[in-house]
Amino acid sequence: MGTVVEDVKDKLDVVEVIRSYIPVFPAGRNFKACCPFHKEKTPSFMISPERRNWHCFGGCNEGGDVISFVMKYENVEFYDALKLLAERAGIDSARLRSGGSEYKKYDALYAAQEAAVEFFRANMTDDIWEYALGRGLTRETIAEFEIGYAPPSSDLLLRHLVKKGLSMQDIESSGLVFRTERGTYWDRFRGRLMFPLYNHVSKVVGFTGRIMPLAFAPADIAKYVNSPETPIFQKSKILYGFHKSKGAIREAGTAVLVEGQMDFLMSYQSGVKNVIATSGTALTADHLLALRRISEKLLLCFDNDEAGQRAIERGIDLALAHDFSVGIISMKDKDPADIAKNDPALLLDLVAHPQSAREFYFNRYLPQSLTNPDDRKRGARFILLKIKALQSPFEQSAWLCALSMATGVTEHVLHAEMERLEAPVGPKAPLAIAAPLPPRAARKTLIIDRIAKLGGNAELVAAMPDYAVVVSPIADLRAELETHEITPEDRAAEVTSLTEELRKELHRERLLDIKARILTAQATRDDEALKIALTEFDNVTRQLHTIPDGKRK
Ligand code: UTP
Ligand code: MN
Repeated sequence: MGTVVEDVKDKLDVVEVIRSYIPVFPAGRNFKACCPFHKEKTPSFMISPERRNWHCFGGCNEGGDVISFVMKYENVEFYDALKLLAERAGIDSARLRSGGSEYKKYDALYAAQEAAVEFFRANMTDDIWEYALGRGLTRETIAEFEIGYAPPSSDLLLRHLVKKGLSMQDIESSGLVFRTERGTYWDRFRGRLMFPLYNHVSKVVGFTGRIMPLAFAPADIAKYVNSPETPIFQKSKILYGFHKSKGAIREAGTAVLVEGQMDFLMSYQSGVKNVIATSGTALTADHLLALRRISEKLLLCFDNDEAGQRAIERGIDLALAHDFSVGIISMKDKDPADIAKNDPALLLDLVAHPQSAREFYFNRYLPQSLTNPDDRKRGARFILLKIKALQSPFEQSAWLCALSMATGVTEHVLHAEMERLEAPVGPKAPLAIAAPLPPRAARKTLIIDRIAKLGGNAELVAAMPDYAVVVSPIADLRAELETHEITPEDRAAEVTSLTEELRKELHRERLLDIKARILTAQATRDDEALKIALTEFDNVTRQLHTIPDGKRK
């Protein structure tokens, strides 16, 4: 008897395991399939029963053994894949626990999260119940998703975990507790409503905590705080609620994507069972791959504000690149949670009648209210770029026809203009599938870049030592397109407003820095440093809310 890993690989035929997920065909001594990890029509995914491995010679150029296949396909970490396969091979899973210290560590990480779930649930007070119920969550939902409360104390959870027999080392690597510079330990989540985050096989791998409005908190503290990444928790992979909604998504062939826990829970509770949420991170390729395997249609249901509209645009590009058919739920209220609370039937109705990507782009870039001919030309060019990126010639033709109707320009001319416009990368390459930049940094970079493009405020731009030119091709392109025909007055106005945005962005950056110092000072009980940092925090906050001529907003 070898290690569990060896036994799994000995007992399970890699071909049979992969065949249970996707169709495979014999090819000489090997087997081939269409790669499940990228989009292709001719198989370039090879499986070798002798070498007990697989490799994709197409888009991914990646390979591995039976365990890595299951990790990738099921979107789970090593230990979970191994467990699934061990069960399948009839290997006693107790051997995993008694196996190497490596496995024990994983079990301890899961045990810590489980213990924390219990602890947070036991700490729900009347006030917190009132808040949660007041947000529209029902008792059933709160129980089903094991929502709890992290009390505002510094180490109650820590003590609970110690009492449960967890080692300090395991507690620290669970991310639930962090070590201060002085070497003392603090609970990471304090005074927050706690939502456990589940992986795709229903195990708790981390948390997100929402600050309670009633608790003492500096005005600018993050509304949501997430667990840090750990060996069992990778943010870019987890879709909140997927463990509950997988079946409904498969059945409907459609997934409804929302942002955050509240939107998810309120939608789910209102009867939209095929819903999932991103949590504390932008939509990623891993998310879409997991969804695409069980559904063909993705409905984007984001906040009704500019940030939400931009997220929709990015979502459309990503989803189309992953061969989804896309729909957009547009709403008058602030977000899906709002609608669900006020009028659940309306939410169901909206989900049943999504907008197409085409309607969304036409409404956004060529609304009826847009009458200035130059503006309409600019909007039309933007839509042409979107058309150029579409994979299907049929879709392209339908969009061009609609654009012709909306602009009164013949399809022939539109087509010629479209050919002339530069596509971001390659002729039919999907738009912007690169990993998303960290949102804050990206925002700053985009603002600076746009200012530079408009030829404004060069000194200000030059004064940014850490300014790196990392602009996504699409943003770059769009700026190019938009500066093309802009009046000097508009240009000046835009530079002014962007400079103001940039100023705020830089202030926010400073605030983050000061906040880190406040935390350290609190943790190390350094009263002097704390006083200085708090004063600075105050000053910077005040500046942030003051417009340049000195008036308070
Ligand atoms: P929102 O600010 O729209 O939150 O952020 P929300 O879901 O409407 O929350 P409520 O209704 O005020 O409680 C959307 C999502 O972005 C992430 C969270 O996942 C959140 O649900 N987020 C937001 C963070 O990770 N950190 C933050 O500070 C804020
Ligand atoms: Mn919201």
